[in-house]
This record gives sequence, structure tokens and C-alpha cells, in this order.
Amino acid sequence: MTVQLYTGAAMPLIGLGLWKSKSEEVEVAIKSALSVGYRHFDSAMVYGNEKEVGLALKSAMKEMKTSSVLLIRFQVQRKVVAIPKSVNPGRIAENFQVFDFTLDEQDFNTIKSSLPKWRVCVAAKKGPDNKPIVGEDGRPVPRDADHPFYAH
Ligand SMILES: NC(=O)c1ccc[n+]([C@@H]2O[C@H](COP(=O)([O-])OP(=O)(O)OC[C@H]3O[C@@H](n4cnc5c(N)ncnc54)[C@H](OP(=O)(O)O)[C@@H]3O)[C@@H](O)[C@H]2O)c1
Repeated sequence: MTVQLYTGAAMPLIGLGLWKSKSEEVEVAIKSALSVGYRHFDSAMVYGNEKEVGLALKSAMKEMKTSSVLLIRFQVQRKVVAIPKSVNPGRIAENFQVFDFTLDEQDFNTIKSSLPKWRVCVAAKKGPDNKPIVGEDGRPVPRDADHPFYAH
């Protein structure tokens, strides 16, 4: 159950209190709360644990994501259109949960470095340099050659 704030945001009626929670205690507390359904965490600068609360939320959010979602987020974050196919209602919902977290530079680069440097293009013909060729104004041109992620 939620209450609607004047901003239009919906705030869950039960949240986890964090006043006087020690910095070294908040990670376990937040992960336990998230695992049973809490989505509201009270915080304030005066609590002195905001940094740890933020880090715990960030870490927990990532742990809750599947590798499929991390890969879709990776593509979205580098502005590549992702079209994950699924006929499974659970996976269709899961694959859309990519806008409530961000991959930091380290995670982003870890995924990037694990990808092979190739992409798949469907083309009937190939040019002399083995790149897929399409017709443009009657001229043969390499398909997607100008794309920043084209594997030259
Ligand atoms: N217009 C074009 O020229 C063109 C060309 C190529 C592709 N496409 C589009 O791109 C889409 C994707 O193509 P693709 O080749 O990447 O798809 P794909 O490999 O044929 O299908 C994706 C597979 O991943 C599974 N899956 C989806 N979400 C998952 C998740 N969260 N965890 C585990 N498995 C998951 C799906 O199974 P379930 O269905 O059982 O979930 C499906 O077996 C196509 O459906 C099409 O719409 C368009």
C-alpha cells in the first residue's frame, strides 16, 4: 500500500527506519528488508550513514538483477536499441526493469571487455573486404559502416 505524494510519486506506507543504525549494520539491514519486499528507506544527513545506505542500495539492486537484465541495461546505457524477444510473461516484465539502476563505469567496462568484438549483420552479399554490402542510391555500401559499434 502506498500514499501519493504531492509530486505524484507513490510512497510505500511502511519503510525501514535507519536512524541510529550503525554504518557497518546498514548493508545487512537493507538487503534483508529488500528481500522481503521493503521499497521505502528513511534517511537523513543527520543519521550519518547516508553514504553506506546509498552503497548498500546500489549493491543490492545489482544483486537483484539477472545477467539478462544487466546485458540489456548495458545496451540501453550505450544507446543501442535492445529488442529482447520473449513469450514468457515473467521474462517480458523482467527484461523491462532496466531503468531503475545504472551500471557504474567499472561494471560497464567489465561487460564491455567480455564481449567479442564482432556483430552480426544479415546480408546476401559481401564486399571485397568481407563486410556486408547493401545498395544505397544504386551504389554498393558496407551496411552499418558508420555506426560507432561497427566492427572494423
Ligand atoms: N526487423 C529485423 O530485421 C529483426 C532482425 C532480427 C531480430 N529482430 C527482433 O529482435 C528480436 C530478438 O531477436 P534475438 O535473435 O535476439 O532473439 P532470440 O534469440 O530468437 O530469442 C531470445 C531468446 O531468449 C529468451 N529470453 C528472453 N528473455 C530472457 C530472460 N530474461 N532470461 C532468459 N531467457 C530469455 C527467449 O525465450 P522465451 O521467449 O521463452 O522467454 C528466447 O528464446 C526478435 O524477436 C525480433 O523481434 C528484428
